Amino acid sequence: MSLLARARDWLDERFHWAELIAPLKKKTVPVHKLTPWYFLGGITLFLFMIQVCTGILLLLYYRPGANEAFESVQYIMTQVRFGWLIRSVHSWSANLMIFTVFVHMFSVFFLKAYRKPRELTWITGMLLLFVVLGFGFSGYLLPWNTLAFFATKVGTQMAGSIPLVGKWILIFLRGGEEVTGATLTRFFGFHVAVLPGLATVLLATHLLLVQHLGMSVPPGVERRIAEGKEPARSMPFFPTFLLHDLMGWYAALGVLGALAAIFPWELGTKADAFASAPAGIRPEWYFVFMFQTLKFLPPKILFLEGEFAGLLGFGLAAAVWIAVPFIDRRAGFGRVTRFFTGLGVFALGYITLMSALAYWH
Ligand code: HEM
Repeated sequence: MSLLARARDWLDERFHWAELIAPLKKKTVPVHKLTPWYFLGGITLFLFMIQVCTGILLLLYYRPGANEAFESVQYIMTQVRFGWLIRSVHSWSANLMIFTVFVHMFSVFFLKAYRKPRELTWITGMLLLFVVLGFGFSGYLLPWNTLAFFATKVGTQMAGSIPLVGKWILIFLRGGEEVTGATLTRFFGFHVAVLPGLATVLLATHLLLVQHLGMSVPPGVERRIAEGKEPARSMPFFPTFLLHDLMGWYAALGVLGALAAIFPWELGTKADAFASAPAGIRPEWYFVFMFQTLKFLPPKILFLEGEFAGLLGFGLAAAVWIAVPFIDRRAGFGRVTRFFTGLGVFALGYITLMSALAYWH
């Protein structure tokens, strides 16, 4: 008996392995020309796992505190063996993950995967997107360098422009009136405890729903199958789809490894609250479209502060986007709603255009 067969028998005797994977063997994944988009969620998951592992390694040396944070990151980069690589992988992977989560969101949007019965999958996905952006925002400050310090000042200031609750949000985020060591401790708490807790619950729900409901078939493909123009094809989830998924992870690892090794993540200079803000200060690329929009707005729009009107607009747009599965009720079996496809194209175009304008300026 081969070693592999013996290992399988051993597992089966103790853990009823065959029973455990039976549901996975029964599960199938639709095959059509849009199937590659099904791999984006898996790649995001892979990058998330990289974040957890490298984040734990960084925690072994990182010290939160205005007098220690920058020095501890400097120590990681210069003294700890492969510390620079771990930090570089963590930072690059965070950016790649935010990119893939956006691609995943837009792809499930255009495939109309949010249609009944997947409303909750969409909502947990949107909550995950906010959590992922929260990870980016809170993590950016942790090295306590000049750029991050001033970007956090600007970012939290924006929240402060909201009438009534703005001041409260600002103090809650900063842990006081100004960005200080208290802000850093607070952001550290969000980054390593609050957000990971939320992400675990949301991710478990999202993945359980995906497993339970199976992958959706886009309406266009459904129609072609119903009209007999295309055969209904599928592949087993285990092991075929999982092996395909693994290839996606392998490709992502290749890109990540190359970026992290060729372009090590920089540290910059230590934050100095008394220094003047460097020119051209702007947030991370995934917030830039909002930042640029606010810059274009006049100081007053009707009776509202320009900045607040902009934030209100983004809040309303986000609310509509979350509620899409409940508004787009006409999208159904074989039926695409062009209005919502147009809405997605508009959102994607707007984000791209505003970000491009910000970098071009
Ligand atoms: C950390 C973030 C996320 C992770 C790790 C994740 C992971 C996954 C995985 C592994 C799948 C199954 C494979 C696939 O269809 O790609 C999936 C499906 C899905 N995800 Fe996500 N996701 C995340 C964020 C989001 C976001 C932001 C949205 C949209 C708002 C979303 C909506 C969906 C939907 C609707 C499906 C079902 C697709 C279908 O049935 O065809 N997810 N997700």
